[in-house]
Amino acid sequence: MPDTLTFPPRMGSSVGQPLSRRDGFQKVTGTATFAADNHPAGMLHAVVATATIARGRVTHLDVAAARAHPGVVEVLTPANRPPLARDPDEKLLPFGFRIEVLQDDRVRYAGQPIALVVAETLEAATEGAALLAPRYAAEPARVTMETGAPYAPQAVGIGGPARVAHGDVEAGLAAAAQRITAEIDTPPQYHNAMEPHALVAEWQGDRLTLDMPNQALVMARGTIAGFFGVPPENVLLRSPFLGGGFGSKAIVNGPQILGILAARMLGRPVKLALTRAQMFGPVGHRGQTRQTLRMGMDAEGRLTALHHHAVAATSSFDDFIEPAAAASRPLYESPAILTTHSAVRMDIGTPGPMRAPGEASGSAALEVALDVAAEACGMDPLAFRLANYAETEPITGKPFSSKALRECYAEGAKRFGWAGRPLAPRQMRDAGGLLTGWGMGTAVFHCPMFAADARATIRADGSALVETAGADMGQGAWTALAQIAAEALGIDADRVEFRSGSSDLPDGGVAGGSGHTATAGLALHSAGEDAVAQLAALALADPESPLFGADNAGVFGRGGRLYRRDDESRSMAYADILARAGVAQLQGRGRGVRNPKAAEGHALMSHGAVFAEVKVDPDLGQMRVTRLVGAFAAGRIINPKLARSQLLGGMIWGISFALHEEARHDPRSGRLMNADLAGYHVPVQADVPALDDMVALMIHEDDAVVNPLGVKGVGEIGITGTVGAIANAIWHATGYRPSRFPVHIADVLPALR
Ligand code: MOS
Repeated sequence: MPDTLTFPPRMGSSVGQPLSRRDGFQKVTGTATFAADNHPAGMLHAVVATATIARGRVTHLDVAAARAHPGVVEVLTPANRPPLARDPDEKLLPFGFRIEVLQDDRVRYAGQPIALVVAETLEAATEGAALLAPRYAAEPARVTMETGAPYAPQAVGIGGPARVAHGDVEAGLAAAAQRITAEIDTPPQYHNAMEPHALVAEWQGDRLTLDMPNQALVMARGTIAGFFGVPPENVLLRSPFLGGGFGSKAIVNGPQILGILAARMLGRPVKLALTRAQMFGPVGHRGQTRQTLRMGMDAEGRLTALHHHAVAATSSFDDFIEPAAAASRPLYESPAILTTHSAVRMDIGTPGPMRAPGEASGSAALEVALDVAAEACGMDPLAFRLANYAETEPITGKPFSSKALRECYAEGAKRFGWAGRPLAPRQMRDAGGLLTGWGMGTAVFHCPMFAADARATIRADGSALVETAGADMGQGAWTALAQIAAEALGIDADRVEFRSGSSDLPDGGVAGGSGHTATAGLALHSAGEDAVAQLAALALADPESPLFGADNAGVFGRGGRLYRRDDESRSMAYADILARAGVAQLQGRGRGVRNPKAAEGHALMSHGAVFAEVKVDPDLGQMRVTRLVGAFAAGRIINPKLARSQLLGGMIWGISFALHEEARHDPRSGRLMNADLAGYHVPVQADVPALDDMVALMIHEDDAVVNPLGVKGVGEIGITGTVGAIANAIWHATGYRPSRFPVHIADVLPALR
């Protein structure tokens, strides 16, 4: 398994360079091994059987028929599931989730695991699962906002406040010259990584080797060890490549525990891969919301009040509340801002973090409401946003550590050609007669950091090995993190070997929240600096070294040599320093974590501006995004080629959110009607503008406060802003104001008659 990747020769150093992915060759030649590619000798196959009702009890499973099928080895049900070392009903932190592992006969959502069949072949396990022919005592399913059970949540997202109030919103609305209300519904969306949740588990006594894609290896290792009552170091979790994650692979889930349990019970390696249909239920999703925004504006178009209320759906047994209204807190200046959430319990799998949790849904609604407000004031949407530009963070008054949003607006508008846009809708047609509209939205995302550790070893030959248990789900961590390490080490990137993706390495933290590059990168950078400092100490203490006595002037590393800062003619190769000191190698250590002192007193946010062109067929109502220009300010860019791909990917997800993606429940059965990639639409090539018409500009931003690297992160911001920009362009093309996502042809058609 290639858990070590080295650069192709002479790619040069380092940060800021548009290096190609180091794992690109493996990916395109098919030699990159994903979890399910591992086939240890004697491996069994496990298949999950899932509930076809949404609420009730399983009254009968034909276990005898399944066991009798040739090749079937074992059938796990609540009747014989071996005990676990921790209570699966106990909420699993940090997300606070219960875990679904056949603890009882209750069915809480359609698609819930109700049994696990293990067999010599995948075919036998699949047939065995079918032979279970479950019978149920079904109860009426609650899968709509209307039939669910409302409640007031204590917290939203991961421990965020459900309600934040600043100023007097009602007074602000009363005093306003203009008032608007906007209501926006967003649907349940399901992460559909190309690679489903899959694992190959092998126990040797109390030691587990686990090949499983995961976004937070060392945290997952601890969770899994806890369920099986073994020390964390007994679990080796390998995850060199992930075929997408999007948040759903950040959290250990029930099917994973069941697969590992089966391997332990049977004393043989077990492989379990969820089917595409099984990705819709037990492994999280973006929760449905119903959002209401009320705004008041004075005669100059400045906000006097902003109230964002979000109703979020959650499951009957867990409390993940999409923190959608939080998106209205950090962006626009207003003397009164109120963000509130309520929740509705339904018979659905628990929602969870999905790329840009909170901001994606929340900014979609906020940016539509902003457009409604601009229209009410008779103002250009960009001018309206500039009139409400927050120079300091609204509510807290804190200065931003950096905020080049004004530049994003200016550069994005220029590149798009926004000037001259008619104010009224339905003014533009293209040469073919298609209604054409232009819309915009502001992109925003916070800049979290987690905690990570790293090692950097300078070896006798002057090359280096750097190590952290990072996760590359396609975003380019193999490449960007190595670039950061190479820079700190002063060694050309092609001589820096990088080990990652394995839980026996120093904790690489979480690849999530757009914080992986900043967090694991800072750990690697610090480890590299530590190693160079140790090397410098050797050289500076050596009377024969050309660097001797450079103490105050200082030294720096470049290309595997240490140079005097004040006289670059005096230098010494790393290999020679080690050889003269009789040291075989030096190891530096580093930790990546936010320095709360440095950041305190500042608001830390990434920003952007997205401009969209949409064309609508005046007869058929068919909508197509024909141009997207995003300009993003996200701190220092480690690798512009990778960052651009991330931003474009986010913007394409914005197209998906605006026009395609939605999971639909049958309200009678409570089952999803489109739990596959035929009925659950995502944009394909034909739905995305040509590459020349998809622009992601990266606006320069220096930020010494957010972290010493100046990195804010680019993983999630691209989806924010884009959704609203497309909805606003639909309005501008047609005069129809979207009130739900995705926008359907049927929604637009009445406006076209
Ligand atoms: Mo992301 S939803 O933080 O993987």
